[in-house]
Amino acid sequence: MRMILLGPPGAGKGTQAKMLTEKYQIPQISTGDILRQAVKDCTSIGQEAKSYMDRGVLVPDQVVIRVIQDRLGKPDCTRGYILDGFPRTVAQAEALGDTLARMGSTLDHVLSIKVEAEELVRRLSGRRTCRSCGEAYHLLYSAPRKDGVCDKCGAALYQRDDDKEETIKRRLQVYQSETAPLISYYQDRGLLREIAGQGEIGEIFERICRVLEK
Ligand code: AP5
Repeated sequence: MRMILLGPPGAGKGTQAKMLTEKYQIPQISTGDILRQAVKDCTSIGQEAKSYMDRGVLVPDQVVIRVIQDRLGKPDCTRGYILDGFPRTVAQAEALGDTLARMGSTLDHVLSIKVEAEELVRRLSGRRTCRSCGEAYHLLYSAPRKDGVCDKCGAALYQRDDDKEETIKRRLQVYQSETAPLISYYQDRGLLREIAGQGEIGEIFERICRVLEK
């Protein structure tokens, strides 16, 4: 199963992708996670990406397209994958289409997760992530048992640099101008399914599974 999770920052793409990974045994490919790891490792891609990510704007298309082309060629993608946060521009969607055509492959699903703006800001400003295993928490909705400590592995939790209020606003504007046009792009290709993204995490997961299994 090859799918894209589309949605604004905070829509729950990462949260849902992790659950889908377990259910369908296919990898989550998050360009955000790959770029954050590259920043941490001080690779050339990381150095190039950092200033864009800190400002809440998109990393240039040619950089992320290279990252994705490389990742899709890995053996764990043969049974499928969940693209989380890619594509984010029409140019990226076109490059993805070309790459898949060269591989003799196609997309099965594009799911657009919809959440109101106020709720997105609440989710992002309360998000905390584990430095070690990447588990996501929320100060109000899914707080860790012990303040600042991951329930799963005991490592420290941190707030992403781009989850500060000003940067959140910028990321939401960038989503509207650069990424939202992909909704009609994939609608025109008959691939888009809308998912109501408000409510309990488990409830949203069930909605997604129902759509995938139709
Ligand atoms: P990226 O890491 O992809 O960030 P994003 O798209 O802004 O998405 P988020 O991770 O913020 O949100 P999410 O939808 O995954 O929500 P989550 O599940 O975590 O990108 C970061 C940056 O990298 C970009 O700004 C850009 O610079 C660069 N980049 C990445 N990809 C790129 C690309 N393709 N092209 C160019 N640049 C790129 O949930 C958020 C919070 O809400 C969590 O705390 C969670 O616990 C909570 N939550 C989730 N669901 C619910 C629910 N139902 N109810 C209550 N709380 C919930």
